[in-house]
Amino acid sequence: MTNFSIAQALVEASQMLRRAGIMEARRDASALLAHLLGRDATYLIAHAERELTASDVARYRSFIERRAAGEPLQYITGRQEFFNLDFTVTPDVLIPRPETELLVETALELMKETNAPPFICDVGTGTGCIAISILHERRQARGVALDISPTALKVAAQNAARHDVRERLAFAASDCLDALDAARTEFSLIVSNPPYVAERAYDGLQREVREHEPRVALTPGGDGLGMIRRLLADAPRFLSTRGHLLLEIGFDQHEAVNQMIDNSVWTLLDIHKDLQGIPRTVALRKQG
Ligand SMILES: C[S@@+](CC[C@H](N)C(=O)[O-])C[C@H]1O[C@@H](n2cnc3c(N)ncnc32)[C@H](O)[C@@H]1O
Repeated sequence: MTNFSIAQALVEASQMLRRAGIMEARRDASALLAHLLGRDATYLIAHAERELTASDVARYRSFIERRAAGEPLQYITGRQEFFNLDFTVTPDVLIPRPETELLVETALELMKETNAPPFICDVGTGTGCIAISILHERRQARGVALDISPTALKVAAQNAARHDVRERLAFAASDCLDALDAARTEFSLIVSNPPYVAERAYDGLQREVREHEPRVALTPGGDGLGMIRRLLADAPRFLSTRGHLLLEIGFDQHEAVNQMIDNSVWTLLDIHKDLQGIPRTVALRKQG
């Protein structure tokens, strides 16, 4: 790839990716070149004849090689859009998924029910995408973002600063809610997209996911329900009366989770389906 125009580079790169079995070869080739040039995809179309420098070609080739080897696009570009915000992602954090936007939408709806300024907790914050999106939408809200991974917390703090919510969001390393003092903490809402893949299903995940995303973000081991179980048991101590708990669950977990709900503690409001019709977001209210 020397003296290549944008158009030629895209053709070559798309072919390489297609040969490597990458599904969205053209889209990824275009996204990587746009990222490298600091432009968007429309620029590539409008300037298809522009010649790339030798150093751009070399960098582009290394990006394409990484993508062809199965590295997720987002770890190469270092970014992923979520709820219309641009998030920094590194291999220390899960890449935010579109279905998790449903958790944010549901949280924003439930927050309309309370007049007091919301105080939220995001357990297993990763990039911080859930907590940061909520605080970005609700300027009076404050929150605490927890993660067992200190490196994930660094990425989340960076994202919080980037989206101007840093002064309203505290961060702490914590195994589930264990680092918090229930006597001094009362949230109006606890949200979590916990690791929920069962141990036995882990090897069946897409290679791209299994080999690149943090294992701790994907599976808690065992039947995959361990962290959900802990949140159902522990969250009431940290919630105000009629406070909410929102959980994202796996595609086949709604019946098992339904069974785990203690009806003397929680009112199950709904299990919202995602765009694929999969029961995805469990909305609970602590009983008064
Ligand atoms: C599925 S990822 C979700 C990340 C982010 N909230 C999102 O929705 O994209 C789960 C996160 O939980 C964290 N985690 C795993 N086990 C945990 C535990 N026992 N306590 C707290 N966080 C945990 C992982 O480090 C990871 O960041």
